[in-house]
Amino acid sequence: MVNVGIVGGTGYTGVELLRILSSHPQVNVEVITSRSNAGKPVAEVFHNLRGMAELRFNEPGVDSYQNCDLVFFATPNNTAMEQAEALLSSGIKVIDLAADFRIKDVGLWEKWYGVTHACPDLVDQAVYGLPELNRDAIREADLVANPGCYPTSVILALLPLLEQNLIDPASIIADCKSGVSGAGRSASAATAFCEVTESVKAYAVDGHRHLPEIRQILQTVNKDADLVFTPHLMPMIRGIHATVYADGKGSSEKVQQIFEDYYSNEPFVDVMPVASHPETRSVKGANHCRIAVHYLPESNKYVVLSVIDNLVKGAAGQAIQNMNLMSGLDETTGLDALEIMP
Ligand SMILES: NC(=O)c1ccc[n+]([C@@H]2O[C@H](COP(=O)([O-])OP(=O)(O)OC[C@H]3O[C@@H](n4cnc5c(N)ncnc54)[C@H](OP(=O)(O)O)[C@@H]3O)[C@@H](O)[C@H]2O)c1
Repeated sequence: MVNVGIVGGTGYTGVELLRILSSHPQVNVEVITSRSNAGKPVAEVFHNLRGMAELRFNEPGVDSYQNCDLVFFATPNNTAMEQAEALLSSGIKVIDLAADFRIKDVGLWEKWYGVTHACPDLVDQAVYGLPELNRDAIREADLVANPGCYPTSVILALLPLLEQNLIDPASIIADCKSGVSGAGRSASAATAFCEVTESVKAYAVDGHRHLPEIRQILQTVNKDADLVFTPHLMPMIRGIHATVYADGKGSSEKVQQIFEDYYSNEPFVDVMPVASHPETRSVKGANHCRIAVHYLPESNKYVVLSVIDNLVKGAAGQAIQNMNLMSGLDETTGLDALEIMP
């Protein structure tokens, strides 16, 4: 059994971790934290967990995690970096669902996140937790930086094109849409029901924090890779839809085969048949990324459509996939639930 802690158990990714882990056969959730609900039974706050989780929320603090093998930080940025060093030195592995360890250039991270990094020496040691790219390194890692939700959808759409040199690497445009749960559970006017329902808007056109993250990872595959990234807020609860464009000469048949071959052994990436249009609802609640690749001969452009559930493959599911690898378990353990339809 792997004993785990969840810091930030009242947030959307924290409760999603608990939902998935409650049917994981090899995991015992030892501790789950919330400052605002400390002492309350988890099932009193989340009724979907009645009968499944007997736990109460604890105050967060390094001492509470001493019986854990691994701790998930499902917390805002700048939280895990304050505690990771103490946990790692006690032999406890860490997966941060936030961005504290995702960007290798600490100066660049500090520019985008607006604070001084609390443990810059650990950044190098952290492995970017995208199993489709870094599986072997994740197996050996003690500290994993779980990828952002938009980056997961965009990077998976681009890996085969970049690795096979099919595109002009600087011509990439990622036009992405996210459900509102991507913004977390804290109330804000910008994400209130009346502000987002029956409306769609772009945001952070001049620079979103996921841009340097996506750029860094794409440049590990092709140093000239660069992109324009425009996120949009959609009136839905879960889901990310990335439409990714890039210039290059090719054909539908050839690129379809390249994607199918590239992802043939990936348990959580589903390359759909030629001319498909994946829907966000087709991944709701499950750890899949569904991808369709199109080629437009008249404009010499590839268009890749990639959908994930931001809370699952974009956060908690991917974190559990990483935990499985770090714990020597089969990567798919506990992650075989099918999507909810409609
Ligand atoms: N939502 C998504 O789709 C998504 C996807 C990928 C990655 N992420 C990242 O995952 C992290 C969590 O996201 P979320 O959407 O679950 O956020 P959230 O809904 O806002 O939840 C944050 C959680 O952290 C706790 N918390 C806040 N400050 C804390 C602190 N200083 N120490 C300990 N606990 C603290 C909160 O509970 P208390 O205040 O009660 O302690 C709450 O349980 C964020 O960094 C986010 O960027 C989110």
